Amino acid sequence: MKKTISGFSRLSKAEKVAWVAEQFFQGPEQAAEELKGFWHQNEEVQRVLDGFSENTISNYYLPFGVAPNFLINGRAYAVPMAIEESSVVAAASSAAKYWMSRGGFKAEVLSTRKLGHVHFIWEGDVQKLQRHFQELEARLRHDAAHLTANMEQRGGGVLDIRLRDMSQLEPYYYQLEVHFETCDSMGANFINSVLEEFSSTLQIFVQEHPAFEGAERQLEAIMAILSNYTPECIVRASVECPVEALAIGPDDPMSPEEFVRKFTKAVRIAQIDPYRATTHNKGIFNGVDAVVLATGNDFRAIEACGHTYAARDGQYRSLSHCTAENGIFRFWLDLPLALGTVGGLTRLHPIARRSLEMLGNPSAPELMGIIAATGLAQNFAALRSLVTTGIQKGHMKMHLMNILNHLAATEQEAREAVGYFSDKAVSFTAVREFLALARREVRVKGKG
Ligand code: MEV
Repeated sequence: MKKTISGFSRLSKAEKVAWVAEQFFQGPEQAAEELKGFWHQNEEVQRVLDGFSENTISNYYLPFGVAPNFLINGRAYAVPMAIEESSVVAAASSAAKYWMSRGGFKAEVLSTRKLGHVHFIWEGDVQKLQRHFQELEARLRHDAAHLTANMEQRGGGVLDIRLRDMSQLEPYYYQLEVHFETCDSMGANFINSVLEEFSSTLQIFVQEHPAFEGAERQLEAIMAILSNYTPECIVRASVECPVEALAIGPDDPMSPEEFVRKFTKAVRIAQIDPYRATTHNKGIFNGVDAVVLATGNDFRAIEACGHTYAARDGQYRSLSHCTAENGIFRFWLDLPLALGTVGGLTRLHPIARRSLEMLGNPSAPELMGIIAATGLAQNFAALRSLVTTGIQKGHMKMHLMNILNHLAATEQEAREAVGYFSDKAVSFTAVREFLALARREVRVKGKG
């Protein structure tokens, strides 16, 4: 059977579905129907969704949930989360509620700078280029003015332009490092357009300027691109309270002092061991990514940046920190987050638009705070479970519903299973056996 094709992108959507179904599925007609079953009933909405990507044949659904009761800088939020992993939204909600009665979260944007580079190879005299750098900078700014004018009106634009000598690492390699303020937009398109303009101006500059001669007139621009590493676009989310206020109630699994001792140790372990740090930070990104995705932002960029930041001193470490001094427990997270609340998908994707509306249409810095607080809440909830009951208890309770769905349990069976497993360990085998027994009993009753 032929499984390759030329001109796939030119097929209509129905033709694409038919071809994929025919080539790759056992029951092509049923598969095609199923894929089409996830098309949006509103054609206009579907057209918008199709416009985000290429070769779309259907929509991929993820649960869209809400974690209410987030108190951040004194303001209450219900946080929208798009995530498939059971217990993430429940954990965020529970941590949010817990901290709501202990003063809530503080979020502080430390800086909002983004940056990008023109990477180039040049066999010229770098000191000469440095001497004429002011002139070059004026020319760069002048030539890109048509791109920057609008952003400047909004209070942003190009902040700094620097020449970085990288020739110690790679012969004749230099960078123009450009710092940007992009206000409420993530700014990827803006930054890349400006950098490409800078790249051509730079080449023309050395070609035309009388200071340069011979081989110096040849400058090879390798690429012009933003950096997703934005250590100066950073927010701090924190919580704090007296140690004794950490108590939940009489059925607490441990005293607040014991809890704090184990909790701070857990954070310390994630500081010193990359194996644990990776899982610890994954828990933070459970919360972060879910809100980033719900608000139409680029979760790959956020993840890549966060992990680079976690390894900034040469070893991968925890992104969160914790102290317990003079009877005060403090827990915080510094996270680089290059986000937008205008542009990109933020206003085009109908659910992203609703997510932003649910958050009160925040500015980009406000959204940075909300997302960092969600990451911190997630991390707190995970560590609280890990150092007390372990995570499987809560996790498998949530997972029970997935297993029941997988085994096609009826509503009545699911209700009975939830009751039965309320004080027992959940596993796939245990649930399967429970259902088999329940179904056998029903058959026997039916016969009798
Ligand atoms: C699971 O998705 C996330 C955790 O493993 C995070 C952690 O271990 O801190 C629970």
